[in-house]
Formats: sequence, structure tokens, C-alpha cells
Amino acid sequence: MVKVSLTVNGVKYDLDVPPTERLLDTLRNRLGISSVKEGCGRGECGSCIVLVNGNPVHSCLTLTSRLDGAEVTTLEGLAPQGKLHAIQVAFIEARGVQCGFCTPGFIMITKALLDRVKEPSEKEIRRWLSSVLCRCGSYPLYFEAVKRAAKYIKEGKIYFDEKEVREKYHLKVLAR
Ligand code: FES
Ligand code: FES
Repeated sequence: MVKVSLTVNGVKYDLDVPPTERLLDTLRNRLGISSVKEGCGRGECGSCIVLVNGNPVHSCLTLTSRLDGAEVTTLEGLAPQGKLHAIQVAFIEARGVQCGFCTPGFIMITKALLDRVKEPSEKEIRRWLSSVLCRCGSYPLYFEAVKRAAKYIKEGKIYFDEKEVREKYHLKVLAR
């Protein structure tokens, strides 16, 4: 077993993990973080993407034992309790989500993109979002969501009240 100290969504964890344990399994099975999805398990679908020290990584290909001292951010860590991040709101408003399996991956790759490029071009949006596969074919709506999120962030609207968004869009359950 390997001792690893990891900060996930702002909370520090001291873990003993097998050397070959994937970050995907650490997040889902040890820490109960369910937004991180396993699709292909081999770095192709992008549904498992999280941020490690601000960089997007496939958690299915990342060994937790190599992450001592790292900061990991998942969808659950994008906004404080009771709030939703502008990217989450933009994805809701674009009505791009069908089954939703791919959505956390798209939101996390969008976060990585907008952290680097405030006003991405269509080409940049398509290139970054090509890291994630959507079997429901929601790409055009997701492209719109990224543009909408960029606009919100540019206007300084980073966080939205979760209760208000729920009521406005009649949402019973929101992934955080
Ligand atoms: S589950 Fe990691 S890329 Fe598909
Ligand atoms: S919304 Fe179903 S896989 Fe993308």
C-alpha cells in the first residue's frame, strides 16, 4: 500500500492505496464522488475527466499513488454549497443534456478550457470538447453551452443560486 495525501474539492484526505489503484476508483469507491463516470476505461470517452492541479486528466488512466500532494477537482467541487457554477447553469440552459452520462466530463473539460481561454473560438471549443464522447449526439447544444458559460464568466456571473435555478427550470435533481 502507498500513503497518499490528496486534496479533493478542497477537502484533504490521507489515504492508503494499492500502487495500481486508479484515481477513478479512488474518487468513486473510496470518496463516494459519483459524478466521475467510467465509460471506456481506456482514455477514449472522456466521461471520467477531472482536474488535477488544474489540468484535465482521464481519471481511468491516472494512478492515485502518483498523486501525493495533488489537488483534484470534480464536478462536485465547482461551486460552494447551495450554488451552481456558471458552466453548470449554461449546460442546463442549453438543454444539451439527454442521458447525462457524458455531461460531467464535458463540464470539466469546459472548466479547463475557460480557465485558459476566456473567449474561445468555435474551433477551440470543438477541439477541446472533442476530448469527450456523447453517444446521444448533444454536441451542438454543448458548443452553445460553452459560449454561454464564457459570456457569464466574462460578465462576472460565476455562481448562481442553486434553489433559484432549480425552481426556474423545474429541476428536481441537479448534479453538483
Ligand atoms: S472512462 Fe476514462 S476515458 Fe473513458
Ligand atoms: S447526453 Fe447521453 S452520452 Fe451525452
